[in-house]
Amino acid sequence: MNRVLQHLGSKYPIVQAPMGWISRSKLAAAVCNAGGFGVIETSSGETEICKQEIEAMKGLTDKPFGVNLPVLHLKDPSMIDFVANCGVKFVTTSAGNPQKFIGPLKEAGITVYHAVPNVAGALKSVDAGVDGLVVEGTEGGGFKNPNEVALIVLLQAIRREVDVPMIAAGGIADGRGMAAAFAAGAEGVQMGTRFVACAESPVHDNYKNSILAADETSTLMLNKNSSPCIRVLRTERTEKIYADGVMPKDTFAKIQDLYFGGDMEASVGLAGQSSTLINKVIPAAEVIEGMVSEFFEAADNLGKIAAARAF
Ligand SMILES: Cc1cc2nc3c(=O)[nH]c(=O)nc-3n(C[C@H](O)[C@H](O)[C@H](O)COP(=O)(O)O)c2cc1C
Repeated sequence: MNRVLQHLGSKYPIVQAPMGWISRSKLAAAVCNAGGFGVIETSSGETEICKQEIEAMKGLTDKPFGVNLPVLHLKDPSMIDFVANCGVKFVTTSAGNPQKFIGPLKEAGITVYHAVPNVAGALKSVDAGVDGLVVEGTEGGGFKNPNEVALIVLLQAIRREVDVPMIAAGGIADGRGMAAAFAAGAEGVQMGTRFVACAESPVHDNYKNSILAADETSTLMLNKNSSPCIRVLRTERTEKIYADGVMPKDTFAKIQDLYFGGDMEASVGLAGQSSTLINKVIPAAEVIEGMVSEFFEAADNLGKIAAARAF
């Protein structure tokens, strides 16, 4: 059993990414019950609802699950104490320096992985005492570092410097991608976009269908010279923001109209390049089982190559 799997305590080292409003108990429990590892978001800033969602998990699955704490965007610090005392054993931190949160979490016996977009961030996180890293390539959906580094480069570059366990995120939606990440040093994968478009995801069908329709050029990086820099689906609205180079401050104001109302022009639909690999809305269990069998098929092929010592 690899180090990530030991830390997660799940059947498979396949993590459902934290995603504001989306990664709540319905989706996370479906992933956990299918052998993956669900993570509840707190980045929506809806503190009380997120606390209820964490509690609700206990009635929906007997499998382990995690919580994400966004260092910079956490609105209510009471969330840290709540998470430290709610029985969760695995937390990911993201967006900022993990130093700030690590003390109370480690004291509570929680395993902490920090999400990093570059080697410097990885080294800083290891110095701060994290147990592992979520290595986030620029291919992924959501908030991104404006200095774009592709996942496959990042995994290799971090692995050259440190030996901590890595969960690879960004651009993975199937077992081949998972095998590629493992070959580059990862011991687990995290997926956001794939799970946005699965059956148990709470978002509107229009959002799911936009992901199904997307190809590898259908996402844009917005707001590279300001904050937050984000990867989103290409729409009329996002093409205009891209051309202007600046994102209006009220861009997220109506994100729930997009997520749950299906109005794809109401805000920005966060999604990654992996959209091109997603062609069907299927249950989380089917995503995970398909991925595991593809992963072992790819690994078998590499094993045969290694055994024959011939390309
Ligand atoms: C709709 C959406 C919302 C996201 N929201 C968050 C978030 O709230 N916190 C966070 O750490 N990452 C967030 N992310 C990034 C994911 O955690 C993950 O790293 C990314 O989705 C991986 O790439 P993929 O989309 O290619 O699977 C979000 C991603 C998506 C697609």
